[in-house]
Amino acid sequence: MKDYTLGEFLIEENREGFSHSTEALLRLFSSIKLASKAIHKEVNKAGLTKEIIGGSGITNVQGEKQQKLDDFAHRAFIESFKSRNVVCGIASEESKDFIVIKGKQENIKNQYIVLIDPLDGSSNIDVNVSIGTIFSVYLRKSSIRNNLTIEDFLQKGNQQILAGYIIYGSSTILVYSTGNGVHGFTLDPSVGTFYLSHYNLRFPKTEKIYSINEGNYAKFPSGIRKFIRYCQEKKGNRPYTARYIGSLVGDFHRNLIQGGIYIYPKTASSPEGKLRLLYECNPMAFLSEQAGGKASDGKKKRILDIVPTELHQRTPFVCGPTEIVSKLEEFMVNYE
Ligand code: AHG
Ligand code: MN
Ligand code: MN
Repeated sequence: MKDYTLGEFLIEENREGFSHSTEALLRLFSSIKLASKAIHKEVNKAGLTKEIIGGSGITNVQGEKQQKLDDFAHRAFIESFKSRNVVCGIASEESKDFIVIKGKQENIKNQYIVLIDPLDGSSNIDVNVSIGTIFSVYLRKSSIRNNLTIEDFLQKGNQQILAGYIIYGSSTILVYSTGNGVHGFTLDPSVGTFYLSHYNLRFPKTEKIYSINEGNYAKFPSGIRKFIRYCQEKKGNRPYTARYIGSLVGDFHRNLIQGGIYIYPKTASSPEGKLRLLYECNPMAFLSEQAGGKASDGKKKRILDIVPTELHQRTPFVCGPTEIVSKLEEFMVNYE
């Protein structure tokens, strides 16, 4: 397996069912790989330099204090996509409005839209805990001859043609799906190449983990509180163990491999929850379904069917193995 590079796998993958051109897929991944390697390099020396740890002094459109690495990652991805002639527009968690990328006039290949959370888990940067990048790709809806419109970005998650994440953890791993299973590639930093390491990832059927910021317990709806008690009960393969990193990418990756449910519900102070539909929930929902699981808003609404109305909108979010997500939904219906 060690010899199977991401580039080689993508060419095979395309034959197996990706309905867009291999060239487009390779160009998209060329940008993603380049930016993620630049971030990997910065992350791995973060303790050594003040240039990359700490705040940038800016409050972003989310009302959150931007970290220097948030800004670095945002710029790395924009620059990388700009030079590949495949993407025509990017919406980023770190930018209020979408960014237009002008292709050459006669170039009809710049027809993809990227939505991105360049650096996920900002609160973990300065304490050496796993962080990530989440990305999502759509085909533009407007004619290539016209200007991009907001509708090109406000597409339902079920229109994604590619979604994935990179986790900068004990190793750097890129996990993605084009709708044909979920596959993971580990970066060998000595040669700068991603190699296939996790083929066809599926949520294990017997889950053992629940992931939620229980510090918010007092503000949770009663259905969520009751569900937490259910996870802690002794019955069958319960009690589950609690694991929560505070980086969605890290929590999702662990749950995908070990089997677990991730929950970021609405709270009394955040009625829409915290996570962003377009940059965080849709790509993770796409991966969840591709891994044999389920993702919803906790009230039986499939995340991928939500019609977005604004770029930075938030939604309550639950994902993981199908049965346990359905169980949580039952609690939400019965106790709220
Ligand atoms: P980001 O760093 O991109 O703003 O995302 C942070 C998100 C997500 O990664 C994580 O799961 C969640 O915020 C943690 O929130 P709490 O600290 O409220 O638990
Ligand atoms: Mn995030
Ligand atoms: Mn972020």
